[in-house]
Amino acid sequence: MVKDLLRNGLNNESLNRPFGWDSKPRDKSLLWLDKNENVDVLYNNFMSEIPSTISIDNINCYPEPAKLYYKLSEIDGLSPESFILTPGSDGAISSTFNVFLNKDDKVLITKPTFAMYSIYCKVYNTKVDYLEYERDLNCPYINLDKIIKILNKTKPKLFCLPNPDSPTGSILHPDELTKLIKLCDKLNIIILIDEAYYPYYDESVIEKTKHFQNLIVARTFSKAWGLAGLRLGYAVGNPKTIEYFHKIKPMYEIGSYSIAFIEKAIDFEYKMRESVKRIMMGKEYFINELKKLGFHTLVTQGNFLHVNFGDRSNLIHNSLESKVLYRKSFNEECLRGFSRFTATTKENFIPIIKILKNL
Ligand SMILES: Cc1ncc(COP(=O)(O)O)c(C=O)c1O
Repeated sequence: MVKDLLRNGLNNESLNRPFGWDSKPRDKSLLWLDKNENVDVLYNNFMSEIPSTISIDNINCYPEPAKLYYKLSEIDGLSPESFILTPGSDGAISSTFNVFLNKDDKVLITKPTFAMYSIYCKVYNTKVDYLEYERDLNCPYINLDKIIKILNKTKPKLFCLPNPDSPTGSILHPDELTKLIKLCDKLNIIILIDEAYYPYYDESVIEKTKHFQNLIVARTFSKAWGLAGLRLGYAVGNPKTIEYFHKIKPMYEIGSYSIAFIEKAIDFEYKMRESVKRIMMGKEYFINELKKLGFHTLVTQGNFLHVNFGDRSNLIHNSLESKVLYRKSFNEECLRGFSRFTATTKENFIPIIKILKNL
């Protein structure tokens, strides 16, 4: 039976992924604030002009990514050997597992976090320890001392930490991250800092890859750059570490069209940064209005926000149903009672606030 021939671990009944053929298209008449995409019409319209500048050889020919590596090197201030292009930052995460993990190796991940972390633990048949977020009045958090204690005690091979994390929006501050990176270096632990929400949250540890071979940073063009559909991200690390990522890459790490698109987009980095500003101003506006209406919001980083509609939740969810998609609820204790909206521009939030005011 095929089942008996599977790679070790794939028999795991709890390893379930949705089928592509079963995916449900989202309703185009709604405002999509459910997946932390860049929803900024001005910026999206600007990006929509790029395809007309992409030449046919980016469609009928195999990829030539060198120029993009050099452009990344320029915007991020590290040598081209510090990067590997991947299909989204998801690809950077899966490559990290692929490079380092054997069956039964130990991985430490936060909980809740981006869903693919626990999925890759199952795919690679690793052991997993969870660092659970605690609930605070203002934001879910994990105490630094608690992390240090667990790292010292369990000594995982890989520690994955999105900063900001998702869906919590919580962060560890740069000096706290530095402590963790140094500790992981001392204990010979690979630390993967996932910066998917850079530069909505503008602090980064990529510079530290120059000094720490055990540090890998995941970045993406899906969030602030507004290019989630192109599936392009990258891993950043010390060239000595990234060398191994290149050894396991497929023939071509990503497609020519994505390469050509992103090369062009990078020339307009300032447009992305203007969009980030507009979106973060929109987030501030929405949070302030929600507070004025008496709702509890969390202090979080990233292009998303959490609000607790309390005993008016059902009424509000019903009233917003025909206007906007957002995540209505969470099972996890640290976010129980909260709904999550992707941050967007003030113009997009005004009609939502109007509906809430009229209720
Ligand atoms: C923390 C985090 N990491 C990684 C990803 C993956 O994004 P992508 O593969 O589109 O780069 C997401 C997506 O929501 C995320 O929230």
